[in-house]
Amino acid sequence: MRFLLLSLLSLLLPTVSPYDIVDDFSGLTFFDNWDFYGNYDNLTLGDVIWVDEADAFTQELALVNSAGNVIIKVDNFSNVPFNQKRNSVRITTKSTYSLGSLWIIDAVHLPYGCSVWPSIWTVGPSWPDGGEIDIIEGVNLMLNNQYALHTTPGCVHTTPPNQKGSSSLVDCSQPSGCLVGETVPNSYQSGFAAAGGGVWAVQFDYTGIFIWFWSRPNVPASITQATATSSIPSLADWGAPSASYVNTTCAIDQFFAPQNMVIDITLCGEYAGIPEQYLATCANTGPTGICYNDNVPGPGNNYDEAYFELRYVRAYTTSAPAATGGVAALGKPSASGGTKSIRFEWPPLLVVLSGMILGMTM
Ligand SMILES: *[C@@H]1O[C@H](CO)[C@@H](O)[C@H](O)[C@H]1NC(C)=O
Ligand SMILES: *[C@@H]1O[C@H](CO)[C@@H](O)[C@H](O)[C@H]1NC(C)=O
Ligand SMILES: *[C@@H]1O[C@H](CO)[C@@H](O)[C@H](O)[C@H]1NC(C)=O
Repeated sequence: MRFLLLSLLSLLLPTVSPYDIVDDFSGLTFFDNWDFYGNYDNLTLGDVIWVDEADAFTQELALVNSAGNVIIKVDNFSNVPFNQKRNSVRITTKSTYSLGSLWIIDAVHLPYGCSVWPSIWTVGPSWPDGGEIDIIEGVNLMLNNQYALHTTPGCVHTTPPNQKGSSSLVDCSQPSGCLVGETVPNSYQSGFAAAGGGVWAVQFDYTGIFIWFWSRPNVPASITQATATSSIPSLADWGAPSASYVNTTCAIDQFFAPQNMVIDITLCGEYAGIPEQYLATCANTGPTGICYNDNVPGPGNNYDEAYFELRYVRAYTTSAPAATGGVAALGKPSASGGTKSIRFEWPPLLVVLSGMILGMTM
């Protein structure tokens, strides 16, 4: 009888495999297993120098604050002469993470402000072959976080019913990737910080890539109760993901190699700095309306909010043969799913023009 009951129960409950902790990045040891870039932004045309490890620590652009939280920031204390770049940080995990991984990021503050372009993301080898997952990304005075995958052609994202976020671009091989806008309030900017921050979780699975966000008051107990050494026994209290990239339209195992995680902040560049993006939220904040000119040179006090404050980044793995992609998400479709559409394009002319402006200012 008891056996029968248990069997019935196991049919009713989703089979969620536990995620065992692999890496906890937090506190004084946070930076031990990351590489610092140590060069100017030669990837996205941003107006920063991503300093090496020694400079990051001596200039206090990477530090642990009195709350025990990790700070990664843009230099907001140097007077940068016109035509020069400002110091910032870009770090990459020494480890890679395979399919079957789960990442959880607990943040108290995200960098924002005109010209500021932060991201926490993952990337495989020889981009775009190994794929890219953008978990936290925003530019300028944007209000909501955005998600995206970047892949070679063949991976697309049509809005699944169990996604809270708002899909805007379908083809993950396009320059801006298959974007999903967060619709849960307070996912970026001052609203994020005022709510006490929040938590992201990313399931990197052959069944799909699923990304959740909770503002601080709504972080589920399975996460608030987790420690630096414990497993995540169940995703049952997570609700629907904000972004669900399911394997029916994107064969995750074909488009994604094992991923390194990257945390970086750049300024202007080919996203925050292109006129269409920059002018959308920062047109009236400076005399010229040009990202570099109105922000990067000068005393830097406009970068006081350009910092990450992180409680931890954790990586988990499941060894279960059938990982449970989005199983916690099989609830009712979200009312907001797919109703809004963010216009986001990269007209080649604007990119060329912004390249010229950036070139002139460097
Ligand atoms: C960009 O900088 C990185 C880090 O120093 C270096 O490894 C890479 O070769 C550079 N890429 C180009 C295209 O110069
Ligand atoms: C896609 O995910 C489903 C579960 O949602 C799984 O049964 C199937 O094997 C996966 N297909 C591939 C090609 O990985
Ligand atoms: C830089 O910003 C931090 C907050 O991120 C602030 O505490 C500090 O006073 C600022 N530094 C300067 C020199 O303004």
